[in-house]
Amino acid sequence: MVRIGGFIIGVGFVFALLLGIWDTVYNWIKEPPAATAEHEFHHHPKKVDFSFNGFFGKYDNRQLQRGLQVYKEVCAACHSLRLVSFRDLQALGYDEGQVKTIAKGFQVPSINPETGEPATRDGIPSDRFPSPYANDVAARAANNNAIPPDLSLMAKARHDGSNYIYSLLTGYQDQPAELLKEFPEAKTPQGLHYNPYFATLNLAMIPPLSNGQVTYSDGTAATRDNYAKDVAAFLTWTAEPKMEARKTAGLATVIFLLIFCFLAYGAKKQIWRNVKD
Ligand code: HEC
Repeated sequence: MVRIGGFIIGVGFVFALLLGIWDTVYNWIKEPPAATAEHEFHHHPKKVDFSFNGFFGKYDNRQLQRGLQVYKEVCAACHSLRLVSFRDLQALGYDEGQVKTIAKGFQVPSINPETGEPATRDGIPSDRFPSPYANDVAARAANNNAIPPDLSLMAKARHDGSNYIYSLLTGYQDQPAELLKEFPEAKTPQGLHYNPYFATLNLAMIPPLSNGQVTYSDGTAATRDNYAKDVAAFLTWTAEPKMEARKTAGLATVIFLLIFCFLAYGAKKQIWRNVKD
């Protein structure tokens, strides 16, 4: 009796599940999802051969320094790095004096001690990379109603972040004719810029990089492609400064486990040596 009852309840559950699925399938057949420009024209990030790719990959400090230079001279006009202090830059190979000079190049918010009025002062090593805008309202006003996001963790916040930042910076182009033919309503609105690597295909950031804009002192070619790679590497470091320690710890763990496996196997052999199978 109990068995039959259980069976009937089970059938009831299965029926309810099928009903749920049926509803979804029926709606999907009746009204198939419409094709969208985002779905058809969005690109996955291009793959960059970064020095930190892979299990043994490491940051290249010279590249990170060039990336910092691009950030300072271009991106910092709009984007903050509010989780990074100037003194953290010692990890890129700068000494204290150089860090002080870099910090001095930024103006951070403060209070005038004489009057109590809001003011700015030169940065010091314990400050963080400030936002160039007093608040979000000012940021929106200067950027066609979009807020330039903080870039500290951007490389982690987006899928395939390092490649994504590089692709976004080098991906601006004219809207493809096929897109306009297929989706005339998806024409890039006034004030936005077409970029197939951005999720909605149009973003408020002006194309920030062009050839020759930043002068490197180490002989690296002054191209948009190099700027984009270097700043993407730098922003990967800001998002994951301890990546190398993480990889080394991972490797040490694997080696330890391998040795442990070997010992455990030896112990098993030793313990069962008199037992025939
Ligand atoms: C003139 C101001 C300006 C400059 C200079 C600028 N950006 Fe932006 N950036 C913006 C704005 C505005 C947005 C927000 C765009 C949007 O949401 O439509 C943005 C968004 C971004 C995003 C986020 C995209 C996403 O997926 O949400 C990244 C990454 C980015 N910028 C990187 C950079 C880098 C790297 C530089 C320097 C090479 C740079 N930006 C220079 C204004 C700027």
